[in-house]
Amino acid sequence: MTNDRDIIRFDNFKAQYALIREEIDTAVHRVLDSGWFILGKELESFEKEFAQYIGCNYCLGVGNGTDAITLSLMALGIGRGDEVITPNMTAFPTVSGIMKAGATPVVTDILYEDGLMDVTKIAAKINKNTKAIMPVHLYGQSCDMDPICDLARQYGLHVVEDCAQSVGATYKTKKTGAIGAIGAFSFYPTKNLGAYGDAGAVVTNDETIYQKLLSLRNYGQRVRYYHDEFGLNSRLDEIQAAILNVKLKYLEGWNEKRRSLAISYREKLYTVSCLQENSYGLPVYHLFVIKTRNRDKLMEYLKSRNIQTLIHYPVPMSKQKGFGLQGDESFPGTMRFAEEILSIPIYPELSDENLERTANEINTFCAGNDQHE
Ligand SMILES: Cc1ncc(COP(=O)(O)O)c(C=O)c1O
Repeated sequence: MTNDRDIIRFDNFKAQYALIREEIDTAVHRVLDSGWFILGKELESFEKEFAQYIGCNYCLGVGNGTDAITLSLMALGIGRGDEVITPNMTAFPTVSGIMKAGATPVVTDILYEDGLMDVTKIAAKINKNTKAIMPVHLYGQSCDMDPICDLARQYGLHVVEDCAQSVGATYKTKKTGAIGAIGAFSFYPTKNLGAYGDAGAVVTNDETIYQKLLSLRNYGQRVRYYHDEFGLNSRLDEIQAAILNVKLKYLEGWNEKRRSLAISYREKLYTVSCLQENSYGLPVYHLFVIKTRNRDKLMEYLKSRNIQTLIHYPVPMSKQKGFGLQGDESFPGTMRFAEEILSIPIYPELSDENLERTANEINTFCAGNDQHE
C-alpha cells in the first residue's frame, strides 16, 4: 500500500494553509462577525493593495478569471461580430471568456520554444473585424509585449492581457497586467495567488474603463436599482478578498521560492528540454513544463513512482469541440508542443528532497529511453 508521505503531489494546498492558518482564520472570522459579505471593506482594501502591487491606478475584484476576461472586453465595447486574437495554446477559459462577451476568438500559433504566442503570426489574422489582441502569459512567463503593443497601435487594436497564470511576473520594468489597456487575473486556488474558491480581478490605468467596470460587474447599476446598461453579477466576495489580503503579503516570497525551485530543476534535468527562458522579464513559474517525445510513457512511469504530473494543455483550442473553429488550420508550433509537454510539481512548499526525487526519476526514465534533445 502507498504511504501518503511517499506521494509527491502536484499541488499542496493543505501545506500552505498550515503555514498561514492563524492569519487566514482571523481574516475569515472578521468577515463572518462583520455580517457584510459583498462589496465591502475587505474588497476595497484588496483592490487598493493589488492595484499598487501590479502598478496600476485601478483594480476591481470580480467573480473569477473567466469573468475578468469577459468584463474587460465588454468594458471596451467588444462583442458580437468582433474578433479577438489569442494563442492556440492556452486554458480553455481564455476563449470561453471571449465567447461569453459575444466576440469570436481567433487563435494563432505559438513558439515551440516557450509555448507563448508567436508574434510574427498575429498580423496575418488581423482584418476589419479584429478589435483586440489577448496575449496569454502562460505558465507564469510574460509574452514579448513590445511587438504585440506595436502591432496593436499600428492597427488600432486594444491589448487585453490574460494574466491568470502570471501574477507578479515582469516584462522589462513592468508587471504583467500593467502593459495593455486591461489585465485580467484569476485567483483560482491553484494560482500563485490562490483564493479558497473562485475569484478574479481586472486592473487598468484608465478611469473611464474603471468606471464602466464598476457598473458591469454589478448588474449594470451605478445607483442601486437603476440599471443603465446590461451587466453581470461578478463580484469578488468579502471572504475571498480577506483571504487574498493575507496571501498577497506572501506572494513575492512565494514567487521567489518558485524561481529558485525552477533553477534547481534546470540544473538537475539533463535528459529533457525545459522551456526557453526569455531575458526580457522575470517569470513566476506558475507551472514548470518539460518537453519530451516520450511524454505519455514518462507520465505513466512517474505515476507508478507516486509522482503526480499534468498536461497543460493536451488539446489546443483549435481542436476543442467546445470551440469548433479553425479545426482544419495548421498550427505546427502548437501541435508539436501539445504532444511533448508535461507539467511537473512546483510550489513553494515543495521540499528539496521531493524536487530531487522528481528530477532523478525523470532522468532515470529518459536516460534509459534515449530522450535527450
Ligand atoms: C490562462 C487562463 N485564462 C483564464 C483562466 C480563467 O480563470 P478562472 O478559472 O478563475 O475562471 C485561467 C484559469 O483557469 C487560465 O489559466
